[in-house]
Amino acid sequence: MCGIIGYLGTQPAAEIVLGGLKRLEHLGYDSAGLATVADGQLHVRRAVGRLDGLAEALAAEPAPGTLGIGHTRWATHGRPSQENAHPHVDAAGRIALVHNGVIENHAAIRSFLEGQGVRFRSETDTESLAQLIGFFYSQTGDLLGSVRGALREARGTFGIAVACADAADTLIAARRGSPLIIGTGRDELIVASDAAALVGRVSQVTHLEDNEVVLLGPGGLRAVTVDAKPIEKQLEPLEASLEEASLGGYAHHMQKEIFEQPDALRNAMRGRVRPGADRVTLGGLKSFERELPRFRRALLFGCGTSWHAALIGEYLLEELAGISTEVEYASELRYRNPLIQEGTVAIALSQSGETADTIAALREVQSRGAVTLGIVNGVGSTIARETDAGVYLHAGPEIGVASTKAFTAQIAVLAMIALDLGRRRHLSPERTAELIDELAAIPEKVTKALELDGQAKRLAQRLVDRQNWLYLGRGVNFPTALEGALKLKEVSYVHAEGLPAAEMKHGPLAMIDAGMPVIVIAPQDRTYEKVLANIREVKSREGRVIAVASEGDERIAELADEVLFVPRTSPLLAPLVATIPLQLLSYHAALARGHDVDKPRNLAKSVTE
Ligand code: G6P
Repeated sequence: MCGIIGYLGTQPAAEIVLGGLKRLEHLGYDSAGLATVADGQLHVRRAVGRLDGLAEALAAEPAPGTLGIGHTRWATHGRPSQENAHPHVDAAGRIALVHNGVIENHAAIRSFLEGQGVRFRSETDTESLAQLIGFFYSQTGDLLGSVRGALREARGTFGIAVACADAADTLIAARRGSPLIIGTGRDELIVASDAAALVGRVSQVTHLEDNEVVLLGPGGLRAVTVDAKPIEKQLEPLEASLEEASLGGYAHHMQKEIFEQPDALRNAMRGRVRPGADRVTLGGLKSFERELPRFRRALLFGCGTSWHAALIGEYLLEELAGISTEVEYASELRYRNPLIQEGTVAIALSQSGETADTIAALREVQSRGAVTLGIVNGVGSTIARETDAGVYLHAGPEIGVASTKAFTAQIAVLAMIALDLGRRRHLSPERTAELIDELAAIPEKVTKALELDGQAKRLAQRLVDRQNWLYLGRGVNFPTALEGALKLKEVSYVHAEGLPAAEMKHGPLAMIDAGMPVIVIAPQDRTYEKVLANIREVKSREGRVIAVASEGDERIAELADEVLFVPRTSPLLAPLVATIPLQLLSYHAALARGHDVDKPRNLAKSVTE
């Protein structure tokens, strides 16, 4: 996804747009640009690479005006270059546009406009939309009408902000499929693709729905549909604080978010889990009270880290709630023929709530009659709004591209849902109370696990030359192994694979050679003896075993080359603590290799197209 911002107020727009883009840089970072309006002209600056390039361009040639739009890009159509960077401007130089999403019929629009003599400058789909708006505007002089007209022709997805050289007091924004939020502050209106850009500047926001167009001007905010029907927008308070979005003394957002996990977990459980209670309270499912006991099958889906959390959810729901559970990649589910029987609850997992594949899968299962729940961090996000009910993570903004605190919060929420559903079926009050107590103790145990930071750093530095790593786990810790491997790949660009430990002998064992790091997640649960046998197999091929084990486990200390000891907890909740040293290891592995951990190459925080 790319980051978009638009500003209309009394302050120098370029400064504010650049500041907002800095907060959105994790969403896209291969090129950036902005346009302001002053003296009846557009002032456009664009640069390839990180935002520093744009800041330099602005320092060399400032862009005046109190209205501006900006964009930080993650290339989809057209390589990262100055010509392909946004904003895109129409041929007459009157309309500037920033865009998130994909205009699917851009080739048809382009060939129509070229037929009319319009000359294109870039390879992007976005330019076709800028040119089409400009084409209508040159004929009618009606800005809002031209934007609506162009959007009626456009196929695909968009979140856009439009500025016009002839209107230094009017900004237009519209959405279909790509998130946009409007914030209102003192004497200013801001539009952005993510709340992170608004934090600290505005106190009230409203989320755009699909096919809505808003005109921000001297009269405030006016919303219409693409077909010109007026809409009333409700403002709501913006929840995130400036402190949450800043680094607060940490070197990187990923590090900050790893260390925030005790608090993030407390927030995820606040008011929901009380020590001594024999039920969890999930307000978000209240409207579902009558249907909850009727669920017979759960279908969980998501992408990346959220998919791993869903896999852990499968163990939790089957074990605690006794519900047959399937997990799907959202990207696969959306193109399959999912069979939704009566009693199926489909659960979408997403940190952002804006991942395109997850939204598409959600709509697919909804069209087939599934009842849907969302497990989402992004408050007011598309998935949160489109699911029938849901449970927010309340983990606070996650900015590092590699997901950390959202993952553990997702597991905590899944555990709470499993306990809630289980308690309504066969799960005894005693067993429920025992697990609730364990859950409530998790934040403290995570704090303890974070003390492994120094050991993880030394280990990562010693292993800096190793290009292939294996992660092994069994049962509920198989997904923990997958997530450990994904974290390493994402930020350190080292090849890593996660496997169920027993599968190793069916092929991957052939890869093990002297010194290959093999991370084994081995808490003392019912698979423990088997995992010890797997460790011996690796050792006899001279692999280097790094175990994540329960505190006080002396047997493993004798077998493994190194042990990262984590506090003991209930076997089903073990991923919540075992994940911590794996995150720390990846973080330090990336630093040891000199990588930008918050903005890994080729990746974006959320993939919205
Ligand atoms: C991107 C991010 C991953 C994330 C995935 C799903 O690929 O780089 O870190 O796990 O999207 O994102 P979501 O917001 O839906 O959880």
